Amino acid sequence: MSRCLIPLLVLSLLAVSNAILQGTVDIKRLQGILEEGLKSNDISSLYFSIKGLTQLKAKLPDVCDIIKKIKYDKTNIEQVFHLTNAAALSGCQNSLMPDVLSAPTLVLDREDTTLQEIYFAVYALKAVGRGSVFDKEDALKNLIQLLKKDDSPANYGYVFALCEHMGCAAWTSTHAESALLSADETDGRALHFDGGLPVTSFLLTTILRSYKSLGKPSPLSAEQRHKFGEYLLSRRSVTSPRGAALLLDAALHLADDQPTPIAIVFKDKKYITSESDTIEFSVTDLIGRPIPNLRPDEVIAQSGTRLADDVVVLSKQPLTQKPNEPTTFILNLSKIKAQHGLYKISLSAGSKSANFNIAVLGEIQVSNIEIGVGDIDGTTSPKITTVTYPNKLSEKLHADHLQKVTLKFAARDKWSKAVAVQQAFVRVASAATGREAIYVAETDSSGAYKVDLHVSAMAPHLLAGGAHDVTLLLGDSALAAPLAWTCADLELNFGRDRALGEPAVSARRGPQAEIAHTFRAAEARPARLVSDVFALACAAPLLLLLLLWARLGLNFQLFPPLPLPALSALLFHLALGGSLALYALLWLQLSMFETLRYLLPLGAVTFLAGHRLLRRLGDKAARH
Ligand SMILES: *[C@@H]1O[C@H](CO)[C@@H](O)[C@H](O)[C@H]1NC(C)=O
Repeated sequence: MSRCLIPLLVLSLLAVSNAILQGTVDIKRLQGILEEGLKSNDISSLYFSIKGLTQLKAKLPDVCDIIKKIKYDKTNIEQVFHLTNAAALSGCQNSLMPDVLSAPTLVLDREDTTLQEIYFAVYALKAVGRGSVFDKEDALKNLIQLLKKDDSPANYGYVFALCEHMGCAAWTSTHAESALLSADETDGRALHFDGGLPVTSFLLTTILRSYKSLGKPSPLSAEQRHKFGEYLLSRRSVTSPRGAALLLDAALHLADDQPTPIAIVFKDKKYITSESDTIEFSVTDLIGRPIPNLRPDEVIAQSGTRLADDVVVLSKQPLTQKPNEPTTFILNLSKIKAQHGLYKISLSAGSKSANFNIAVLGEIQVSNIEIGVGDIDGTTSPKITTVTYPNKLSEKLHADHLQKVTLKFAARDKWSKAVAVQQAFVRVASAATGREAIYVAETDSSGAYKVDLHVSAMAPHLLAGGAHDVTLLLGDSALAAPLAWTCADLELNFGRDRALGEPAVSARRGPQAEIAHTFRAAEARPARLVSDVFALACAAPLLLLLLLWARLGLNFQLFPPLPLPALSALLFHLALGGSLALYALLWLQLSMFETLRYLLPLGAVTFLAGHRLLRRLGDKAARH
């Protein structure tokens, strides 16, 4: 695993240390913010404006009157620091009130001061020429004690800054690298310190100034320089004088730190057309100045590939430096201007490189369109008419809900080669109702576009028939201009069902009609006579039995003598009769389960009584 991880790690490190910034900090814009800030009534905004403009060596107006009258909190050490330093930078120390130094003196006498308060107090005193520190070694020891309590990046910055004043820059140089390592990384591409732009700007500038004063080479690696540059670019949309001054300070220091990070940006456009076949790039440092020690022939387009199919279209093509504009380099793409599409160009400047996406814009032409109306079932072949661009079909087309409108066309580039565009649509729209229906046109095997518009399918979208425009719409991200061609007038008739349009849609809402269920009608019965005869035929055996019984008469001779022996015989006959009655009830009203419930005891009685009766009859027969 480690064997494949290490090359990956090396690759990613190389990728970053070779990287190029794709943006610059706009100094002109920042200067505008700072000049606006000079009019502010807020002491902090005024201080940062004066500081930034001084750094740009811009001419400062007379601000002594403003400083004299500006409102501030005498007990707020930060505001006192801003006021005294604004006065020092603009040469207005005489406009300060004598009591301005009470807060800094108080802070330095206190036991529980923070490093930030010490920094503000010392530099406020220094601004009025009273900042001398007598026992430097003791002072540094105290600062280090405080740093041990809270070693945040901001606190390191305050100690580094105090060391600049006290003359302990050597201590800074032994601790700067570890402080730099405590920077946070975002997305593996940008470095900043906890605390955002203020802390990042403060630490970077104090460290770089200290190293410069010691005459030492920069402690920043190329990768760190690039990543801090990325962070500053991500903050370039600042709007306040404070943000502008902090960004400017950091950007100036970073750009001056050699070898400076290289930035390449598009000068204006990112595409070529058939008229202009070159793209201009600005190759500068972070703030838009030429790169020292970069030879013009070191700016090369290493490769160019088409994004759609990864085909390589150019390799190792040098850019030409524009006469009298040392930061502008021209890439001539006349070789690929006939093949419209999106391309990735890898540019290198010195040992650094970056990828840029560019577009070769084509022109699209549709010379004519074939249009016709035919039946949906194809029984009649449609009458095809050809319209040439940019005209409109002279006669109005009529189509009803049993018909379809067919359009056929080919999109060609400037060199008459058939091309497929990303978006090809046909729009049917009514000016009267403002409604429209849009259909996608697709190419067939020959590369021609064809659309069938079924009138009945349009009805739900257009709602009402009548006059409509038919417009062809073609677009592509690699097209110089999209195409919109209204090629025909179309009179639509949606038939009777759709004439009202709207209700058909609204009927879907609200309560639905009640559902009535109809059972199947009973089948016809036979005639009354037939059913009577059938019923008699079924009952015939029973009638016959009753008749025969009437003929034979009842025989009670074998009935046992009363009273006791006759009991079982009586019981048997009663139970048997009960069973028959139950059988009749089953037909008339009882359910099968009820019948079974009554039959069970009745059956048991019948069985026992019957058994006893039969045995008696058997005994009697044996005795005879
Ligand atoms: C780009 O190169 C082509 C041929 O190599 C040349 O004809 C054309 O003039 C060049 N374009 C510019 C703007 O220099």
